[in-house]
Amino acid sequence: MENSNKRTVLITGATGGLGTAMCKELYKDGYTVVGNYHTKEKADKWMAQMKSEGFNIELFYGDVSDYESTGKMIAEIESKYGHIDTLVNNAGITRDGRLINMKVEDWHAVINTNLNSVFNCTRQVIQGMIDRNFGRIINISSVNGQRGQFGQTNYSAAKAGMHGFTKSLAMEVAKYGVTVKYYFARIYWYRHGHGCSRKSIKSNCSASANGSLGRHARSSALGVVFSERRN
Ligand SMILES: NC(=O)c1ccc[n+]([C@@H]2O[C@H](COP(=O)([O-])OP(=O)(O)OC[C@H]3O[C@@H](n4cnc5c(N)ncnc54)[C@H](OP(=O)(O)O)[C@@H]3O)[C@@H](O)[C@H]2O)c1
Repeated sequence: MENSNKRTVLITGATGGLGTAMCKELYKDGYTVVGNYHTKEKADKWMAQMKSEGFNIELFYGDVSDYESTGKMIAEIESKYGHIDTLVNNAGITRDGRLINMKVEDWHAVINTNLNSVFNCTRQVIQGMIDRNFGRIINISSVNGQRGQFGQTNYSAAKAGMHGFTKSLAMEVAKYGVTVKYYFARIYWYRHGHGCSRKSIKSNCSASANGSLGRHARSSALGVVFSERRN
């Protein structure tokens, strides 16, 4: 597969469901796509699969919940690809449970991976974007950050925090040609659910635009890609 667009896009959590779909769609659109991975074994399988499908997408290790690890990853990408034009903050986890039972570590893990990661990644690419007068930050959020969800105080708080971050940063950097947006992914498949019951996911889905389980990864990815294109 040829790719001709010189804009470089970094997608965090690239080996996950939505990450993979976004990588493919943006690659097909001609972007130079680089991904971030967290688990080596998963990354090796992912790269082999992508290669077999004709996608030339390199993965870089980084624990986006950790500022230093993220910084090393970004430095590595920039030394190889020059600079990052578009950052998609997609990596995320859930550790669901009612607050009354929630462990302190499950609170921190979700806030660190879903929200602090957005700071860790964005903080370390934003100056370059400002200097070049061009940049796109896309934060993958969730409808649950807006309306709340039973058993997801940690996750909903992280995603709601992402909305405030997005709106505030957008004000700070618009004058430098940098846009900051969030995208509401909706429940599109079961895998991400971890502790979430199928019943609860189904009830989420019935409230979503499409109202069905599965096969939404591609449409979510297309939504993000579309938002990138419109910038
Ligand atoms: N699936 C849905 O229905 C849905 C709905 C609304 C919003 N979202 C949001 O969409 C995004 C992607 O969801 P998904 O369903 O594609 O999830 P997923 O399949 O579970 O993928 C999540 C990705 O994040 C990576 N990751 C986790 N912790 C990380 C860390 N500390 N550093 C770097 N990468 C890390 C995972 O890598 P490892 O597996 O190697 O740890 C994985 O590649 C998330 O932000 C999620 O909150 C999803």
